[in-house]
Amino acid sequence: MTEEPSLLEAMERYKKEEVYPFHTPGHKGGRGASPSLRRLLGSALAVDVSLTDELDDIHSPASYLAAGQKLAAKVYGADAAFFSPNGTTQAIEAMLLGAFEPGEKILLPRNAHRSVAAGLILAGLQPVYVQPGFLASFSLPAQVKAETVAAALAADKKIKGVLVTSPSYYGLAADLRAIAACCHRHGALLLADEAHGAHLGFSPKLPPSALACGADISAQSTHKSLSALTQASLLLVKKGRADVNRVAAAMSLLGTTSPNYYLLASLDEAVRQAAQKGRAMAEAAVEAAESLRQSLAALPGVKVLTKEAAAPFALDVTKVTVNCAALGYTGPEAAAALRKEKVAVELADRENVLFWVTAGDVGPAFAAAVERIVACFKNLAAAGRAHLPPAGAEWQLPQPEVLLSPREAFYAPQESLPWEKVSGRISGEAVSFYPPGIPVLLPGEKVTGEVAAYCEKHLALGLKVSGPRDASLATLRVIR
Ligand SMILES: Cc1ncc(COP(=O)(O)O)c(C=O)c1O
Repeated sequence: MTEEPSLLEAMERYKKEEVYPFHTPGHKGGRGASPSLRRLLGSALAVDVSLTDELDDIHSPASYLAAGQKLAAKVYGADAAFFSPNGTTQAIEAMLLGAFEPGEKILLPRNAHRSVAAGLILAGLQPVYVQPGFLASFSLPAQVKAETVAAALAADKKIKGVLVTSPSYYGLAADLRAIAACCHRHGALLLADEAHGAHLGFSPKLPPSALACGADISAQSTHKSLSALTQASLLLVKKGRADVNRVAAAMSLLGTTSPNYYLLASLDEAVRQAAQKGRAMAEAAVEAAESLRQSLAALPGVKVLTKEAAAPFALDVTKVTVNCAALGYTGPEAAAALRKEKVAVELADRENVLFWVTAGDVGPAFAAAVERIVACFKNLAAAGRAHLPPAGAEWQLPQPEVLLSPREAFYAPQESLPWEKVSGRISGEAVSFYPPGIPVLLPGEKVTGEVAAYCEKHLALGLKVSGPRDASLATLRVIR
């Protein structure tokens, strides 16, 4: 399955030949790089080349990249796969551009990632939102139900497609089989933001992959749960309902002409690795996550998200969400305590911290980290704090009124106003807290007291704003 010469081998061959580079990049194999960059990257700089002739062209792949993409399609049961050197963001934007006509309606959860909003702007689509609900026992967003999608499609025959974020940041998976069947009955496409699911489908211990459930297109962050370098993602397409050529054109439209070949080679390697030992890797991740989950579940005051608590949604158990409310600690406070113990978490929200476990979490370093995590939570419990007050409705993502489409708002004249004066105005920009990068406000939505309260509470918690020009939220760009 993986006999073709790899991109990595071609890069190594170029290095061995000691060719003098009268070409970009300007650091010339590292000789012109800053001493600090040379110290960090060393000989790796010698192969930082962007040679479309010798290493294949991502815009018209014919050799190494064509073979790599073909293998990716085979591994994931797709008809076509595209390497994305600009993350799942590029893949999501391309699937929205490639699958729909400007002005068409698309159904999506209001808690979709900010890259989906970017795709709506680029493709000029009209969003129709459904709500994912709330998992009150952990104070976190739940998942879209198949019956919610069915009702929305039945109510509006003009909806041409559905985008589902599955699994969610917290690992909750939608019933994509039922959703796909319902979409296809209505003649709508099903698109999956599967940024968090590149490892799914390799083991029955994990929820099935989106394509296996009948999705037409899926965008996956290979860099998140598999071994590709940060920013390297995949777009997977099934023929039939989706137009593969339009999607290919959209990927090319959005892609750089100078992709970093380390990213592309790392994607190729990650796919080859998954082709050879995807199941063993998935099961190693599940086992490691379960050992962490069990070590934590035994501790006083520590509540860990389990399959039972996630029901009726399936849970990707490699996401270990720990609720700290009974310990009297907020997520950011617990994350800061863990950081002092040299443990960094994937995400912290009001009550939870999230540990993301992959096949890379093995060996003595992982075992020692689990010991430090357990010791840290024991210390938090010993502090004897009172339970956090229950999270009121102001902690749930607001549902602002949509007054302009994201694209109309993007192009409308805008002005910057002090935060105290923006109530009642239409936002000109997206405001998210990162992670998870879910917009509280999208361009075209009305700024309400509810939105302001949500933002102020999250800022006070110490979470970082991402998206608006002014990350302090002292000002906001609104429609003039
Ligand atoms: C649900 C979801 N979708 C899309 C993305 C974008 O992925 P990338 O960072 O690979 O561009 C992210 C990133 O965090 C995400 O969490």
